[in-house]
Amino acid sequence: MPDAIVIREGSTEILVPELHSSGGPGKIQGGVFFNEQMAFNRDISVMFLRATGRELTVADAMTATGSRAVRIANEVPGTQVTANDISPDAMPYIEANIARNNLDNCRASNRNLHALFAEEAFDYVDLDPFGSPVPFIQSAILGCKKKGILAITATDTAPLAGAHAPKCRRRYQSEPVRGYMCHEGGLRILMCSIARELAKFDRGMKPLLSFYADHYFRTYIQVEEGAEKADKMMGQLGYMEYNMETLERSTSDKYDPTHKYGPFWLGPLHDQEFISKMNPEGMAAEKRCTKYLNLWKNELDSEVFVYDMSELSSHIKMSPAKLVDFIDLLNSHGKASMTHICPTSFKTDLPLKDVIELYKEASPDSKR
Ligand SMILES: C[S@@+](CC[C@H](N)C(=O)[O-])C[C@H]1O[C@@H](n2cnc3c(N)ncnc32)[C@H](O)[C@@H]1O
Repeated sequence: MPDAIVIREGSTEILVPELHSSGGPGKIQGGVFFNEQMAFNRDISVMFLRATGRELTVADAMTATGSRAVRIANEVPGTQVTANDISPDAMPYIEANIARNNLDNCRASNRNLHALFAEEAFDYVDLDPFGSPVPFIQSAILGCKKKGILAITATDTAPLAGAHAPKCRRRYQSEPVRGYMCHEGGLRILMCSIARELAKFDRGMKPLLSFYADHYFRTYIQVEEGAEKADKMMGQLGYMEYNMETLERSTSDKYDPTHKYGPFWLGPLHDQEFISKMNPEGMAAEKRCTKYLNLWKNELDSEVFVYDMSELSSHIKMSPAKLVDFIDLLNSHGKASMTHICPTSFKTDLPLKDVIELYKEASPDSKR
């Protein structure tokens, strides 16, 4: 591979095409896909799998150069990794990366993932497609062993966040929400669509970690077995109202003309106990991992509604207090936190009228 270079991510060396993406959703530039910015995403997989404390069979079903697969095999003890990609062009990279890191717990596989998962099942299945994962979710579920883990990325942010609503309706059969809740909404539509696929197999889910970063959504799901778990999961799907004029927000377990957005996953995004076991030490993007872990740990992730300081300031027509000070004030009346999704947004369990009253009280304008 004359146009390949070696980079280091975490403690792993990875051969990648010299011409590759360094940001954004990325596109194939050097024959095989590689995006440097996704180092953070791969770091999270390594931290996540270490935190399970389990010996796992892993399928990185759309591995391209094998970057995530070899990092997992090299950096997570006790893993047996299948580095799979449909593209024959990817194979020399995957094989070179296995050899370069002396891995005897990683094998290259050149299959259509639908065929792979029709024949083999794994404890952890990773989907990282170009755009929407929807065409691959059923196969991933089939390829996920009992009580296994699904890790799924979606880079079709525009449909999920409501910028292309017809596409979201077609792919996810959900009505997306716009405005300040669009990314929280997009993440919850992705999770809802995974839940609805799992339900068809009498399987349920417990999200362990779900987030929005850069240009993509990502969720790690613990699959649960049985009709009872599936029914419980379905009970956590629902619809939403978000009135951008009045800022009123509410949820409903049924569609009605005032709850026309959704369906969404309305349960928690993370499992706090699980996240507390994730350790960022030695990761390629250690600083960023530490920052996100702190945000996730402190996030009121079971609250669905996101408020934004700009939204409140243009509605109330008073300047905002500093967000950290405002969150402190909210916390003295109820619960509130930052959200990992946007640095000017917050979540709270307080009703809108209290949020507005406290916003006014905290505004520097009311102290003049
Ligand atoms: C976004 S890239 C994956 C990037 C990679 N996970 C990384 O971290 O660098 C998507 C990959 O999916 C592969 N792919 C697309 N359809 C597939 C299928 N049906 N089965 C297996 N691989 C597939 C493509 O060849 C491409 O390499």
